[in-house]
Amino acid sequence: MKVQSETIVRPARNIRGSVQLPGDKSISHRYAMLAGIAEGPSHLENYSTGADCASSLGCMRGLGVTWERKAGQNVIEIQGRGPTLSAPSSQLDCGNSGSTMRMLSGIVAGQQFSSEMMGDESLSRRPMERVIKPLSAMGAQIESQQGKPPLRITGGPLKAIDYKMPVASAQVKSCLLFAGLFADGETRIEESVRTRDHGELALRAFGAKVESKGARNEVRIRGGQVLRGIETRIPGDLSSAAFFLCAAALFPNSELTLPSLLMNPTRARLLDILTQMGLRISVTQLDEVHGELVGSLQVAGGKLTGTTIAGADSAALIDEIPVLAAIAPFTEQGIEVRDAKELRVKESDRIAAVIANLSLMGAQVEEREDGLRIPGNQTLHGADLDSFGDHRIAMAFAVAALRASGETLIRGAESAAISYPAFFQTLEELCQR
Ligand code: S3P
Repeated sequence: MKVQSETIVRPARNIRGSVQLPGDKSISHRYAMLAGIAEGPSHLENYSTGADCASSLGCMRGLGVTWERKAGQNVIEIQGRGPTLSAPSSQLDCGNSGSTMRMLSGIVAGQQFSSEMMGDESLSRRPMERVIKPLSAMGAQIESQQGKPPLRITGGPLKAIDYKMPVASAQVKSCLLFAGLFADGETRIEESVRTRDHGELALRAFGAKVESKGARNEVRIRGGQVLRGIETRIPGDLSSAAFFLCAAALFPNSELTLPSLLMNPTRARLLDILTQMGLRISVTQLDEVHGELVGSLQVAGGKLTGTTIAGADSAALIDEIPVLAAIAPFTEQGIEVRDAKELRVKESDRIAAVIANLSLMGAQVEEREDGLRIPGNQTLHGADLDSFGDHRIAMAFAVAALRASGETLIRGAESAAISYPAFFQTLEELCQR
């Protein structure tokens, strides 16, 4: 179903049902890229349905990788080319996807050709210096528009680096691990704050040796390792599930089941926070697939207190903060977010977007340079809102609208398709009115 660019969300009374989430976006990107440079075929079930992960596949095709999507299923079969890709005949279009541009930079930096990567208007505003600097230190030549896309990358033989990351970013960490595969020697990356470890786990799934030293947040990889294709099923996307979890949290009688959901500990902080706030969550059928933890969630509504998100939690919850902030007015004590200035350079300035939309709904809000504070116990009214072209803002405010009085119009609702095309339809199916 195609989502209208202007979508109306009506208040709901309850959330009830079961949802099987499409495959995790972070894992889908990484598997698509690594399958392309692996030897032999890969078979990826439950690949993300989002436009972002389609951008990664499109770029891999531009680099000479053949793949096909099995009709009517989210199954992707990729014929790995091994480490040597072919020079693209045109620009690689990363669309709206920062993950595609940043992580793929690490792979094209190791190729013996030049390639150019571009993106849409939002991606063209996003900072790329964070990958340009370390990849240049490894020996790649990179031209950009003052640190922003398009990027022209001339690859070649890379040398390993020892790099302490100044920004907490799993995309940068994965980019450098991927580049490390093409480098001479051992690449060592150190993070000040631990970020999601899907890059490390994906590399191991495809047969590479990657060492992690937990205590120092250090990861090491040796160059020249050969990857082998895999057959697997990608766990459901926890960051997409976050919208339904927060919707369920709004109603004391909600009951929601989320089977085979990603539960990777570097991603699952949301579950702790929502539990602390009063949502009742139980997990069954815990399993591990290629190092990724998967489980089935049973969720029941309860009371909804407030919380403060700061420090390492802000990095761990970076994609879920918009929806947590959107439900904050309906909590008892409100929600405060600090140390989250990265939100300002996401698909939109997510601090400004949340503040603008909550204000339009009549909420009291406090904007800070690196976060926000939203008092609890507020009553909101429906309003005419903008997604700012940002998928997570469109979905966050569809959730807030469920507890507002009157209807909410969301302009640019189609941007939800960047990560979750079926979002509005599924939310509608879960709502009791
Ligand atoms: C992602 C990392 C995060 C996150 C993004 C996906 C990843 O970005 O916001 O949606 O898959 O590594 P940063 O690396 O910029 O923090």
